[in-house]
Amino acid sequence: MSAEDYDVVVVGSCMTDLVSQAPRLPRVGETIHGHKFFIGFGGKGANQCVQAARMGAKTAMVCKVGKDVFGDNYIQNFKNNGISTDYVEQTSDAATGAASIIVNDAGENAIVIVAGANMLLGDPELQKAQGALNHAKVMICQLEISPDTSLNALRAARKHQVRTIFNPAPAFPDLSPEFYKLSDIFCCNESEAEILMGKTVATSEDAGKVALELLRRGCGSVIVTLGSQGCVVLSSQDSHPKHIPTTSVTAVDTTGAGDSFIGALAFYLAHYPSLPLEEVARRANVVASFSVQKEGTQTSFPYQKDLRAELL
Ligand SMILES: Nc1ncnc2c1ncn2[C@@H]1O[C@H](COP(=O)(O)OP(=O)(O)OP(=O)(O)O)[C@@H](O)[C@H]1O
Ligand SMILES: *[C@@H]1O[C@H](CO)[C@@H](O)[C@H](O)[C@H]1NC(C)=O
Repeated sequence: MSAEDYDVVVVGSCMTDLVSQAPRLPRVGETIHGHKFFIGFGGKGANQCVQAARMGAKTAMVCKVGKDVFGDNYIQNFKNNGISTDYVEQTSDAATGAASIIVNDAGENAIVIVAGANMLLGDPELQKAQGALNHAKVMICQLEISPDTSLNALRAARKHQVRTIFNPAPAFPDLSPEFYKLSDIFCCNESEAEILMGKTVATSEDAGKVALELLRRGCGSVIVTLGSQGCVVLSSQDSHPKHIPTTSVTAVDTTGAGDSFIGALAFYLAHYPSLPLEEVARRANVVASFSVQKEGTQTSFPYQKDLRAELL
């Protein structure tokens, strides 16, 4: 066991959310007054890492932020969550990723995302992090950074027998076939499954069918999340997709539920590598259900102390 032996390493994005709440969305050229503004920490990669860390996983984040106050604050946020920042790079060539979000009183939104520094994360940073990457128990990546960087991270993980979770978000059609083959666990939601498979995914039966197809594309195991319906799991040792329902709760804010689920998934795979995937998914459902009952993204993610002992 060396200082570089992490449970979970995430190669992915961080974004600062700049959220304005207003009675309605402004029209072109219009200036309106809103009633609330707040700054939040987001980005799928960082969110997933934060959830794994809060459950007790030893984590490191491999990402790039700008040399600006948002980047400084994000690094502090990682530290506050006990995440190693040894592989967080700061660049002066782009700003920290930002999402400008306007939410109206009906809860509808308009969002502009500028990925900025996230897109500059590349092979040199993966090289620097290889000590951590090659010895991690679990590596997670998504598609909010350059797809080539995610692919190279997955290739390195496979080479060193590191278990991979790949979350194809945001999804785009014609994803390189290699992504499927390099995913030990491929985890997506219904709309991502639709984009990738080119068919409607509205029920757990639909999700089961796409899971079988994803397995044929080379994924190890597949999880399709279904919001309040829980998820469908298709494990590599099995030929039958299983629906894992969850106790539906009154959702206050579902933003980040998928990331909470994936962070929890990574924690369980690292701590209980032989726990059946169905049991892992059942527990990840419970963790994610906490996140929908509070406002915000990372602010809604539970800590170890919030969870019953049998969930840990
Ligand atoms: N209303 C709910 N009640 C209970 N659990 C929920 C609810 N909504 C979401 N979840 C939990 O969160 C997990 C992920 O939700 P979902 O499939 O909506 O992901 P997502 O679409 O990626 O989330 P996001 O809202 O962040 O985009 C579900 O599998 C489930 O475990
Ligand atoms: C799935 O996740 C994407 C983000 O990648 C999100 O925009 C979309 O609303 C989610 N779909 C569902 C059905 O929750």
